[in-house]
Amino acid sequence: MNDSSERLPHAALDPAGRLPKAEKIAALLALRPAPAGQRLRLLEVGTGAGVIAHYFSTRAGFDCDVDAVDVVDQRKVADGYRFRVVTSAELPFADATFDAVISNHVLEHVGGNTDQRMHLREIARVLKPGGVAYLATPNRWHLVEPHYRLAFLSWLPRKRRSAYLRWRGRGDCYDCEPLSMPELETMLRSSGMTYANICWEAIRAMSASETRRSLAVVLASRIPRVLAYPLRRFSPTHVYLLQRPV
Ligand SMILES: C[S@@+](CC[C@H](N)C(=O)[O-])C[C@H]1O[C@@H](n2cnc3c(N)ncnc32)[C@H](O)[C@@H]1O
Repeated sequence: MNDSSERLPHAALDPAGRLPKAEKIAALLALRPAPAGQRLRLLEVGTGAGVIAHYFSTRAGFDCDVDAVDVVDQRKVADGYRFRVVTSAELPFADATFDAVISNHVLEHVGGNTDQRMHLREIARVLKPGGVAYLATPNRWHLVEPHYRLAFLSWLPRKRRSAYLRWRGRGDCYDCEPLSMPELETMLRSSGMTYANICWEAIRAMSASETRRSLAVVLASRIPRVLAYPLRRFSPTHVYLLQRPV
């Protein structure tokens, strides 16, 4: 699959369900306060329902001026922030515009390797020096592929995935590009940003912020950090904090 117009957005649009995700991202991003008299500029790429952009623009104590983009407008919450439709991974903003960028479960939807690299390079380009980004994307080695809920779907070679989807009656064409941790880190190394894997911190933040926690999240949140580090390549979701060097 090459044409991004064939890809479904796969966005969860239930505002109540997105709110704990916004709270988790806020806890992990830990934004520093804006300099006196200024507001932080924040961009959410692939906003979906718009809940995360709205949360950062309206939450007391953040003082963020928020932009959001998506390839389709499917927002359920539209106030508090500016929104633009984009047609590719290219971002319609000048270099060094933002203090922070959020890309939550978007990288696997932007296209193949070239588009994914562009997504990361564009985030680096629009970040100010010293600016930070939050990146979350599913692991290719997730036992149950999260978009189609089919075991082992993304374990298969790319060219076999659509046939498996059709055989199981779940669709015609597999339209996501989840990465393994080494594949993602290879891309991150050429993105122009430094990166730190924070999946252990993300699981603990999820356990703290979500009221309906799965048993897996509760158990995973109790694993000591020293043991969690070698297990991070098996985490269902890759979560990274990125930074554009000063
Ligand atoms: C799984 S949804 C995640 C939505 C939102 N980030 C959230 O966490 O609720 C993926 C989103 O990425 C959007 N998307 C796909 N390709 C994109 C691109 N090149 N630029 C911006 N958004 C894109 C989709 O339309 C969809 O809204």
